Amino acid sequence: MAESDKVFTGSIPKFYDTLMVPLIFEAYAANLAALVAAFSPRSVLETAAGSGVVTRALAPRLGADARYVVTDLNQPMLDFAAIRQGTDNRIEWRQADALALPFEDASFDVVCCQFGAMFFPDRVAGYAEAHRVLKPGGHFVFSVWDCIEENAFADEVTNAVAAVFPNDPPRFLARTPHGYHDVALIREEVSRAGFAEIRIETRTETSHALSARDAATAYCQGTPLRNEIEARDASLLELATDRAAEAIATRHGTGPVAGKIQAHVIAAVK
Ligand SMILES: C[S@@+](CC[C@H](N)C(=O)[O-])C[C@H]1O[C@@H](n2cnc3c(N)ncnc32)[C@H](O)[C@@H]1O
Repeated sequence: MAESDKVFTGSIPKFYDTLMVPLIFEAYAANLAALVAAFSPRSVLETAAGSGVVTRALAPRLGADARYVVTDLNQPMLDFAAIRQGTDNRIEWRQADALALPFEDASFDVVCCQFGAMFFPDRVAGYAEAHRVLKPGGHFVFSVWDCIEENAFADEVTNAVAAVFPNDPPRFLARTPHGYHDVALIREEVSRAGFAEIRIETRTETSHALSARDAATAYCQGTPLRNEIEARDASLLELATDRAAEAIATRHGTGPVAGKIQAHVIAAVK
């Protein structure tokens, strides 16, 4: 993983929250929240919470006396999450690296993490941290994207932007969000971190945007793909976004667009 892959700062949080979240994250957040709520947890830790799409789905489903600690590596993402959530005395917002959690052993009933594990530089270490802070019998629920070929817009954007930089194509989407999808490897790494009863479900959803341009802007300007494009030539960000929009429109039309997305949802027990 490149160092810039985990940098969600500057203009990224705004585009991420307004365009990326409705495009691909909301549908999976509703499912993850339902899985977590089914355990009726009294204490939940969320890691890599980003701009809070899972937090917004899960908080209303937790009990009045629940403790919900919401964390992310990048404070600007959490700032977005906290503003959108509004006042909720059950929620504590805290900047934290999922690989070095500032919490006591055995403090939570559930640890959840939507589409964050792909960004961990050492997944087993990240899973072991989740295991450490869980109470015995506690549940770890997380999700990762399937390969880029199963995720239509991400694949089309990656190919279109590659044509703008043929000598050094930006590969963020393929390398990181869509770079950790081998279910045998995921199962083995979760097991190595100490978890049992590992269940993995592959879920297909449909991604919707009002236009190809909105979908292209989401990927090119609301994710660390933006960092990669700007590192090559910041003046080409709009052109790269235009090319991505044209590629999506060619496959999905010039009005509202819909494309396949697919992810793995993992649940395990301490
Ligand atoms: C694709 S976003 C997912 C955010 C959110 N869970 C969602 O579903 O919208 C990945 C998030 O992982 C965070 N992240 C990256 N590395 C991290 C780490 N080591 N520990 C905690 N969060 C991390 C980023 O800041 C970013 O908010």
